[in-house]
Amino acid sequence: MEVPPQVIEQLNRYGQTHVLRWWDELEVTQQQLFCEQLCSIDFSLIARAAAATEPSADDDTKDRSSRAEPPRELVRWNPSSAKSPEQQAAAAKGKELLQQGKVGAIVVAGGQGTRLGFPKAKGLFPIGPVSGATIFDFLCGQLKALARRYGKEIPYFVMTSDATHDELVEAFKSRGYFGLDPQHVRFFRQGHTPAVDRETGKLLLAEKYSLALSPDGHGGLLDALKNHHLLEEMQSRGLEHIYYHQVDNPCLKLCDPEFLGHHVLSGSEMSTKVVAKASPDEKLGLLVEIDGKTQIIEYSDMPAEIAAQRNPDGSLRFWAGNTACHLFSTEFLTRVAKSEDGLSFHQALKKVPHIDDRGIPVDPPEPNAWKFEKFIFEALPLARVALVLETSREREFNPVKNESGNDSPDTARAALQRIWRDWFQECGIAVPAETILEVQPSFALDAEELATRRNLLPPIEGDSLLLK
Ligand code: UD1
Repeated sequence: MEVPPQVIEQLNRYGQTHVLRWWDELEVTQQQLFCEQLCSIDFSLIARAAAATEPSADDDTKDRSSRAEPPRELVRWNPSSAKSPEQQAAAAKGKELLQQGKVGAIVVAGGQGTRLGFPKAKGLFPIGPVSGATIFDFLCGQLKALARRYGKEIPYFVMTSDATHDELVEAFKSRGYFGLDPQHVRFFRQGHTPAVDRETGKLLLAEKYSLALSPDGHGGLLDALKNHHLLEEMQSRGLEHIYYHQVDNPCLKLCDPEFLGHHVLSGSEMSTKVVAKASPDEKLGLLVEIDGKTQIIEYSDMPAEIAAQRNPDGSLRFWAGNTACHLFSTEFLTRVAKSEDGLSFHQALKKVPHIDDRGIPVDPPEPNAWKFEKFIFEALPLARVALVLETSREREFNPVKNESGNDSPDTARAALQRIWRDWFQECGIAVPAETILEVQPSFALDAEELATRRNLLPPIEGDSLLLK
């Protein structure tokens, strides 16, 4: 097969014809695959690679960080158990939206559990302390419980990547969609970007017929929603607000009515839940204002000396950590996804295995290539109104990111224990110290629901208690 002229034209224009070095020795199926791949690539990225290696890119980041201020307007967390009138009004509004079926949810599940040392897609990690239920059991279980409570389904849009798609679709199918109705679950695959050599700006090959590709970041969500016609589907389903979350936090309150209510009552187009950072170097993006616009500076972009600044009372000046739970109005999502400018790419130096000029595999010991990703939170400054809401990290933010230490399965399971024990305590029910609890969303979503089901509780004794 001949290489299509438009592919040759692009490769010539961007000085990347080396990728066709082995074309004549490829099988036809390999040629076809390679052609499809080359046609899916945005070659203008290559030009960005050159810009990324220039010092001015670094200066831009420093300049942004030095102009950053802590967020001025936000809904602060109320640690008291008594709800304020504003909180009550927000919760009532959120419940109304759920009852009207105006809320959908998106999970970004394109990442693999590499940092976690888990060989599968992260959402399949067994987090249930008694049952070994996966993170998706807890996430989907919440959606099912909310649908039961409010009488309307919450469509779930699951973004996958080349690396996680087949595995996740298969896992949902083989596990009965984790209890959800398949009609209300949509899988869609995010796009990918090529890696380029840090010295030469040349595309790297993974095989003689394949580029070294990686997912285009969670900001690729917008292109993916557009390309898979899901924005139209959201509209036709009457979804006005979309709750967005990452796949790594089993403690999050999915489609939390109070968050929804604050978002809608403030007229926000994109809202973010934040928690107080535990330390200046904690790996959380920072919610800041720059030139009056709410935005997030990723932790890796924030100079350490600025992240470490303190207020006179000793508290961190830049305290608001991004939990990566957002609410979007569907209208805003659509507007940004369809705009010409869209989100821009970030570049990061990474170790990218590839084949060299002789076709020999190379496993680089040091970062050798630029990878490109879009970040969804870059949409924040594009919102006309952006709400920031602080919440309790003990209750809602206990992600599973690392194999051990902070943000690990151990810390997330300990947090779940604490949360469930608090519910029992609120209900005035004693739990022996040695009993390991697991309360699945199908049994109770919160202390109030647990109270209504106390007559269904078995004797609370022994090593473990699983409620489902
Ligand atoms: C992320 C946020 C950080 C935030 C923290 C909270 C970024 C760049 N930073 O950091 O601001 O404070 O979470 O926990 O996201 N994903 C995809 N496709 C991709 C890349 C990622 O679906 O191409 C998904 C992953 O499956 C995961 C989520 O995005 O659900 C976060 O990705 P990860 O790289 O783990 O981000 P963090 O470094 O933890």
